[in-house]
Amino acid sequence: KGIGIIGVPFDKGAGKVGTNEGPNALRDAGLIDEIRDISVNIDVKDYGDVHYELTKSSGRRINNLRNLEHVAACNKALAEKIEEITNDNRMPIALGGDHSIAVGSITGLRRKMKSDDLCVLWVDAHIDLNTSSSSLTGNMHGMPVSLLVKELRKEWPTIPILEWCQAQMSLKNFCWIGLRSTDYYEKLMMEKYGINYFDMRDIERMGIEKVVQRALEKINLDGKKKLHVSFDIDALDPLYANSTGTPVMGGLTLREGVFLMEQAYNTGTLSSLDLVEVNPLLGNERDVENTVNAAKLIIQAACGSNRTGNL
Ligand code: ARG
Ligand code: MN
Ligand code: MN
Repeated sequence: KGIGIIGVPFDKGAGKVGTNEGPNALRDAGLIDEIRDISVNIDVKDYGDVHYELTKSSGRRINNLRNLEHVAACNKALAEKIEEITNDNRMPIALGGDHSIAVGSITGLRRKMKSDDLCVLWVDAHIDLNTSSSSLTGNMHGMPVSLLVKELRKEWPTIPILEWCQAQMSLKNFCWIGLRSTDYYEKLMMEKYGINYFDMRDIERMGIEKVVQRALEKINLDGKKKLHVSFDIDALDPLYANSTGTPVMGGLTLREGVFLMEQAYNTGTLSSLDLVEVNPLLGNERDVENTVNAAKLIIQAACGSNRTGNL
């Protein structure tokens, strides 16, 4: 079993600085060796970090997209790295970075696939469905999904430096878990497009096991698609993950987050992961430690770690 770790030290899509420190905080906490400890059959390669250079300015200013040039350049470089990792037959794990990096991550995955062969479980307090015109903040970590799906392409102006991002996914292949903070326009789009989601209220009613099962039925009923999980650490309750830029109370417990990922792994279809929005510059020392440890447990579950013990 091959795994490929790629660090994306990037914070230009977020409203606060610091998620660029995420990858190294996870590495320094021993992530890579702990994944190796899961099984003798696991083969982990660390591809290092994504580096990018700014191309010359597009000349055209697109309103309300903060740091667009950085977001475009970093994601373009990330897409190429993800493609390289999949070519090496490894499961890519992208360590964020803010959530805008899902644009590059998912675009890279999709390059070798037909449009309908990939489905995405988006685990997040937020739906990240804003467009340049609907966003109230201009922060692109609130917009990645709308850049990836064909249904919302018409909501975007043409942006030459984002041309490589093809927007060929369908919203039907996405399902959200953990929602508890959506903006008005996002809610409008949820209604308009009949988006698949299970919010915190659904988890309260059905429990995490049913929610994960139903979510996977919605996007991967016959189990023939490959599953990508885009895990925003702010899906977890701030009790477990306070070192993040946009925490929202009333979230998943760490146990629910780990269980969700174990279930995803158990489908046998899990083929890639983003773990984003860990910000070691926020919160106190204890918060940082908790957040990093929580992120490690989520990633380990995605690599097949078993809470009963590993052989
Ligand atoms: N909806 C808000 C916005 O557009 C918050 C987005 C938070 N996204 C995240 N990946 N943490 O700014
Ligand atoms: Mn979020
Ligand atoms: Mn997010």
